[in-house]
Amino acid sequence: MGLVETIASGLRTRLIARAGGIDLTRLDKVPDHLAWPLQRAGVDPVPRLGEMRDRDPVTKLTSFLGLDVWLVTGDAEAREVLADRSSYSTDIRPYMGRSGSATEGDIGGLGFTDPPEHSRLRKLLTPEFTMRRLARLQPAIEAVVAGQLDELAAAIGVDGSADLAQAFAFPIPFLVICELLGLPDDRREHFRTLASARFDVSEGGMGAVGAISGSREFLLAEATRQRADPGPGLIGQIIREHGDEINDFDLGGLADGVFTGGLETSASMLALGAAVLLQDRDLWQRLADDPASVPAVVEELLRYLSVVQVAFPRFVKTEVTVAGRHIRKGAVVLVSIPAANRDSRTYAGDVLDPSRATGSHLAFGHGLHRCVGAELARMELRAAFPALARRFPDLAVATERLDYREMSIVFGLESLPVRLHREPALQA
Ligand code: HEM
Repeated sequence: MGLVETIASGLRTRLIARAGGIDLTRLDKVPDHLAWPLQRAGVDPVPRLGEMRDRDPVTKLTSFLGLDVWLVTGDAEAREVLADRSSYSTDIRPYMGRSGSATEGDIGGLGFTDPPEHSRLRKLLTPEFTMRRLARLQPAIEAVVAGQLDELAAAIGVDGSADLAQAFAFPIPFLVICELLGLPDDRREHFRTLASARFDVSEGGMGAVGAISGSREFLLAEATRQRADPGPGLIGQIIREHGDEINDFDLGGLADGVFTGGLETSASMLALGAAVLLQDRDLWQRLADDPASVPAVVEELLRYLSVVQVAFPRFVKTEVTVAGRHIRKGAVVLVSIPAANRDSRTYAGDVLDPSRATGSHLAFGHGLHRCVGAELARMELRAAFPALARRFPDLAVATERLDYREMSIVFGLESLPVRLHREPALQA
């Protein structure tokens, strides 16, 4: 079982738990009628999603052993759900046989936590993500990008190609998160091994599952270590400013939430974004020549690619009406971010058009759980794409068939083989 299935099976377990303890974990596969919205057709959402949005943007997807599962595919409807702070819970702990305390459940951070616990923890984190504090990371981000450009050049094999995902897309957010968290240089290599294993789906599930606890344990130990000797980054800063408001377990958990929230998402955006840009040479050239064009291209790529395929599941606490549809208490509402972000009532639909870019797309979510790291992710993307285009203007995709993830919560590319020079025929 790969990471994707692990996540899907985690989701299934949660859904089942909500359904009143019916044990569906024995099912060996997520049923297609539940899982198909996590599939893609190339970089596009599967056509069915668009058809559903145009016909019925708030749809009962299925009834799964008594549990209603709703799918929201329109932009306005998605905002309505995500902005509603009182009708939904994202807390899965009471349904996993654990107590509601954040100090006991190993549930993956803020996303699965409700207020007031969510507000308490998020308030500790947000000061680290203000523009002022993030600005201090800008030189580090630029240095990381420059370093990976050198690595990419060095990684070119005898056949003249290298894997942009491995040499560029993954290490950049990894190293930036190390900077953000304030991990000492001599501990990064070990952490990198854990991180790679965690996101490596090629070896099957066991490595990935084992590594999940490995990287979390690493960050818990790091919180304890920094308690005695606070470092320069987020972990040390929270200890300095709020040390008495948070224990090591919660701090390690917050750091792990930042790490999991920020690594795979940004790595996917870098790899997929590069793949799209390399197939649109005008855009590629524009990124290299015109720095003013960069923010709009990045926003449009975020919308167009919508790497997070579904927002955290929202469990209905009290009956709610969305766009005229009544949804029963206990139901689960899934918001399809790619479907909402391709809604032509609001955006350029299925066309990538930076001239129509807006920063208010849903790629980072909306409302209570909106991505804490959105500005940091933007900084990385705005630094990485133009630097790549300037350093390797002739970079080209070196495969006929891109290796897209088939079904996943975070859409991505397993690898992106590139050549530093375009084929003579293509250079004309
Ligand atoms: C392009 C990169 C990224 C994308 C597309 C992305 C997307 C998202 C989305 C869609 C959500 C959940 C929204 C919801 O269900 O309401 C989220 C939450 C979150 N993200 Fe990101 N993210 C990215 C990068 C980052 C980075 C760099 C960090 C941190 C360094 C980060 C940390 C988080 C955290 C901690 C949450 C949970 C917030 C909460 O529940 O209050 N993300 N992100």
